[in-house]
Amino acid sequence: MSLSERKIVVGVGGGIAAFKAVELVRELQRRNAIVRVMMTEAGARFVGPVTLAGLTAHPVVTDLWDPQYPGEAHVELSAWAEAIVIAPATANILARASFGMADDVVLATLLCSDCPVLFAPAMHPRMWSRKATHENITRLKGNGATFVGPVRGPLASGEEGMGRMSEPAEIADALTTLVARSGDLKGRTILVTAGPTVEDLDPVRFIGNRSTGRMGFAVAARAAARGAKVVLVAGPVTLETPPRVTRVDVRSALEMATVVSEHVRKADAVVMTAAVADYRAARVATEKLKKGGERLSIDLVQNPDILAGLGAARENGKPVLVGFAVETQDVAAGARKKLVDKKVDLIFANHATDGFGGDENEAILVDAAGDQPLPRMTKLALSDVILDRVRDLLTSR
Ligand code: C5P
Repeated sequence: MSLSERKIVVGVGGGIAAFKAVELVRELQRRNAIVRVMMTEAGARFVGPVTLAGLTAHPVVTDLWDPQYPGEAHVELSAWAEAIVIAPATANILARASFGMADDVVLATLLCSDCPVLFAPAMHPRMWSRKATHENITRLKGNGATFVGPVRGPLASGEEGMGRMSEPAEIADALTTLVARSGDLKGRTILVTAGPTVEDLDPVRFIGNRSTGRMGFAVAARAAARGAKVVLVAGPVTLETPPRVTRVDVRSALEMATVVSEHVRKADAVVMTAAVADYRAARVATEKLKKGGERLSIDLVQNPDILAGLGAARENGKPVLVGFAVETQDVAAGARKKLVDKKVDLIFANHATDGFGGDENEAILVDAAGDQPLPRMTKLALSDVILDRVRDLLTSR
């Protein structure tokens, strides 16, 4: 993979893994990136700025007041950077960055930047295991930052554990993917549905399902972060709307079908993550149903299949259609059947025990070419994999 002519700022923190920053710079250059380096004061104690200046043929910035920068170093560096990678990202850097501190050139550049940021954490396993560290990481991820590692392995202290920085090639791979995804959906409109639909039986009761909406909200968040215009049609959920996403709340399958039909004309792609109810009550009682005999029967009628409707109606493969499948048995076979029956491009399939709630999922992507089983990962990371496929389908049409 290549980073041809992309401008990358490497920020080096103060940890023993700083020695690997030298190899990271070389690796990025091998992929044709143009690299500049900034270091915290502690970083410069672990590895000499002279080495990195020699490699990049450019002065290394360690000081906010660097007289070599006629303007302000952090303003110039952040404006120049197309991506920033912090390696090693110490517990201290993560903490300060997560609170928007700007008390050295690395932190000030991060705060001033508007480009994708990748952190490669490295620290002692006890520091990595702290709740505070994970709260800081959650905050940074919430602000759009991406992480690679750390990994388990031998540490400088002679111990084994989780906290070793990822290898330079792996960091460079993660950065290449991050740069490829940055702005790659600009100019595209993506319609995402999320959550359950709720079918009322009477003024207080309904038929629902266990969908939490997290997967759809993750897809919407990542699509917007990658530059798409996103319309998110959400059933009743308790999630916050991701930044730069237009949200339309609905309740029933019929309402969702109406809103989808209003927006589909402008959509380049539709990602139907919603767990749409297959049936609704034939009649919704206007008054609360009273307790009666031993048994109660409710007459149900079928809801329209929104996705199958889109699949049947589309011409020339537009819009790109992605469906979801939650199965309790033979996940891949069920997904392949849905791919054909609903005439869609891609089905994201997972087991019912995995799919609902939680931030992670394990799934299979099924398209006409075959099945791609995906490792367990966060719903945000899965969203990126789905959106990579959507981007490739859009560019190929
Ligand atoms: O057939 P099944 O409900 O398992 O298919 C799931 C996929 O179809 C999901 O993408 C879901 O959003 C969509 N669907 C729909 N309308 C329905 C039922 C499901 O669009 N009535």
